[in-house]
Amino acid sequence: MKKNLKSFDFENKRVLIRADLNVPMDEGVISNDVRIRKSVPTIKYILDRGGSCIIISHLGRPKGKYVPEMSLKPVAERLQELLGYDVNFIADEKVVSEEVKKSIGELRGQFVVLLENTRFNPEEEANGEEFSKELCELADIYVNDAFGTSHRAHASNVGVSHCLPSAIGLLVEKEVDYLHESVKRPKSPFVVILGGSKVSDKIGVLENLIDKADKIIIFGAMAYTFFKAKGYETGKSLVEEDKIDIAKKILKKAEENSVDIILPEDTVVVSEIKSGADYQTVDSKNIPADKMGVDIGDKSIGRIEQELKNARTVIWNGPAGVFEIEEFSKGTFSVAKMLSELKGAVTIVGGGDSASAVEKSGYEDKISHISTGGGASLEMLEGKELPGIACIEEA
Ligand code: 3PG
Repeated sequence: MKKNLKSFDFENKRVLIRADLNVPMDEGVISNDVRIRKSVPTIKYILDRGGSCIIISHLGRPKGKYVPEMSLKPVAERLQELLGYDVNFIADEKVVSEEVKKSIGELRGQFVVLLENTRFNPEEEANGEEFSKELCELADIYVNDAFGTSHRAHASNVGVSHCLPSAIGLLVEKEVDYLHESVKRPKSPFVVILGGSKVSDKIGVLENLIDKADKIIIFGAMAYTFFKAKGYETGKSLVEEDKIDIAKKILKKAEENSVDIILPEDTVVVSEIKSGADYQTVDSKNIPADKMGVDIGDKSIGRIEQELKNARTVIWNGPAGVFEIEEFSKGTFSVAKMLSELKGAVTIVGGGDSASAVEKSGYEDKISHISTGGGASLEMLEGKELPGIACIEEA
């Protein structure tokens, strides 16, 4: 077990908190602040116990250079609103410099500081020792609460663990509880639902969960590669030709392990993916040559409902269709509703698109856990050890 917030006395301590404040921005405006909101409990916990917070995060991929559009300034403003506490944003392009060290050194009493985007520093992604040491010099304790970045081994999440006593924050603890512990010993029936566009993104998850799941439901564009593997006509649907053999192997392994793989029986198809396009629902075995799949049909929705009825653990990662376009969102939002209505089941939604679909559906509060990690949640479901968590001290 890793050290957590209970492992330390934070009174009069300066705490370096690595958060994942990598939020989507639209022309300088934050378009989804979930990651900021979910970073607040750890910051509050430390403030309530007399500590000060020096928060660090990346935003986007500036590749070691200063990119003004990727400054964390708007994030600092939003964090201040959510926290109800002054957030002192230190806008140094180098992230840490002698001036930054001096100004933080001169702060008295309790404070919250947010430094500039760690990826402006070329040493960040190279996990450079110098940069880690400079960050460590600012604080007494390091807390990793950046679950979404835990699959990366960078200076600001892994490097800093080598020069300060360390712990995981409340968000990371919750993510590990659901994505690792609940999956290690799932309550049966355990249903895994995988969607999204690429089979290649989910192969590792399929391989890891095929021995544990009772049923695996596959939909979204990745289903079309499975359709092809089964010899169906897929029309113009997105198929990963080079993954057809893997799909065949997965189907065979599932049969050997007596795991049901459930593919959509019917598919909503269009000639062109755009709002207002004419669409029809066809049998999944026969998608017309000039059409492509964009959602699951009503029969498939009904079947999924049946399959989920008695489930006690459900993991869902990846949408059922092009949910960003209203006409093709029914499958995805229906699944969100089904999960929200399951009684006595642990329901876990992986990060990325399925997380935003659930947030958009309005059922967010009725899901046991929605991950803040995209790549990180997938790697955890693949059963991998994440470097950002592995580096934290054992309790
Ligand atoms: C994410 O959004 O998945 C994390 O913040 C990590 O970002 P990255 O993929 O740019 O490393």
